[in-house]
Formats: sequence, structure tokens, C-alpha cells
Amino acid sequence: MKILRVICSPRGTASESYRLSQTLINHLIDSHQGCDFIITERGVTGLAHVDADYAEAVSKRRDPSNAHAAKGALLQSEQLIRELESADCLVIATPMHNLMVPSALKAWLDHVIQADRTFRITPEGKVGTLRDRPVFIAIASGSTFTGANARQPDFLRPWLKAVLASIGLLDVKFFSVEGTGQEPHALSATREKTAKESALYFSSRAPMPA
Ligand SMILES: Cc1cc2nc3c(=O)[nH]c(=O)nc-3n(C[C@H](O)[C@H](O)[C@H](O)COP(=O)(O)O)c2cc1C
Repeated sequence: MKILRVICSPRGTASESYRLSQTLINHLIDSHQGCDFIITERGVTGLAHVDADYAEAVSKRRDPSNAHAAKGALLQSEQLIRELESADCLVIATPMHNLMVPSALKAWLDHVIQADRTFRITPEGKVGTLRDRPVFIAIASGSTFTGANARQPDFLRPWLKAVLASIGLLDVKFFSVEGTGQEPHALSATREKTAKESALYFSSRAPMPA
């Protein structure tokens, strides 16, 4: 089974979101005994933004069968899309930045959400062209954004859910470690709570086909 892990924190593998994503991957492995896993690590913090060639090509509604002729950001975009297409499962490890996804994740999404490639524009709106597959999202935030103790609005989850749906990814599940600025003992308790919730979720989720 191929997992694509998108790493969005400037702190990379030392980040809280990466740590949570590893907990999720461990649960996935545990719930698919006997299955071989290949994990592709895609750090996105150094990803170039889409450029003028890309914007122009997309606005001209290019022929998708001509993808091999892509250059620059368009070529990078095509490579990232193929990496996503080849994955059976997507894991996104992301911090909350200013109530939203960090700009690095936005840059990756700008590459993989491409008109006439991963979605079509129809009279009814955008229709995703990717095969649906499970998407697990590991979020870390300094303060809280869910439940009765939420201390800030959450634009991250609804927005991410909507843009992933636009390319056909509908099977999306969020997990979060919130309040990473707490005292260490309180943070440990928060991590433990999320670990328990995720263990329960994966123990009841039907395994993915091998
Ligand atoms: C630029 C920036 C913006 C941030 N904005 C928020 C925010 O809006 N809400 C929040 O709860 N935490 C915010 N934080 C704190 C991070 O979400 C928090 O430190 C988180 O644990 C980082 O996760 P990571 O270790 O995976 O990078 C922000 C941090 C940075 C660097």
C-alpha cells in the first residue's frame, strides 16, 4: 500500500503535526496486518509557487493529453499530481497558521488542483477527476479550534475539505493536537487524548483493499 505523506510544517519531521501523522500511519499499519507499506515523504515548505507559464497554460484550458510537454511550474505540478495519483492513501501533516493552512500547503494544493487535469469545469461547477482514496489530516495548533473550548475560528478544516472535494477526494478525516503552547503536562494529556481517539477510529474503520 502506498502512502503519500505531505509535510507542511517549517519544523519538518521535528514538528507536532508530523508526530501526529506518524501516530496515524502507525495505526494504519497496525490495522493492515500482512500488508507492505511504501511511504513517500513529500516536504512542501520549499515548493515554488505556481508561475506565469502555469497560470497562462491553465487559463488557456490546455489539452491534458499534452501533459508531457509541460515546463517549469507546470512540469512540477504534473510530477506532484502523478505522485498523488499513485498513492492509495494521503496523509497531510500540517500546522494551523493564521486560522488556516500554512502557505506551503496552499502552494502544494495550487499545484495539484489543476483545471482540465484534476478537475473539470462543468455548467454545474467543478467535478473532480481523481479516484477517491482515504485522506487523513494531522493538524497541530497553538490554541484550540474545536469543541466548546474553541478559542478561535476554524477556516482550515472546512476550506481543506472543500478544495480536496473539488478534485474528487471525499473520504477525509481530521485529527488534531490543539493547544501546543500549553504546559508540557497538559500537552502530553492532549496528545494522549488524540492518540486514543485515533486508535478508536482506526480500530472501527474497514481496512483499505490491498
Ligand atoms: C506563522 C504562524 C502562524 C500561526 N497561527 C496560528 C493560529 O492561527 N492558531 C493557532 O492555534 N496557532 C497558530 N500558530 C501556532 C502553531 O499552529 C503551533 O505552534 C503548532 O503546534 C505548530 O505545529 P508544527 O509543530 O506541526 O509546526 C502559528 C504559528 C506560526 C509560526
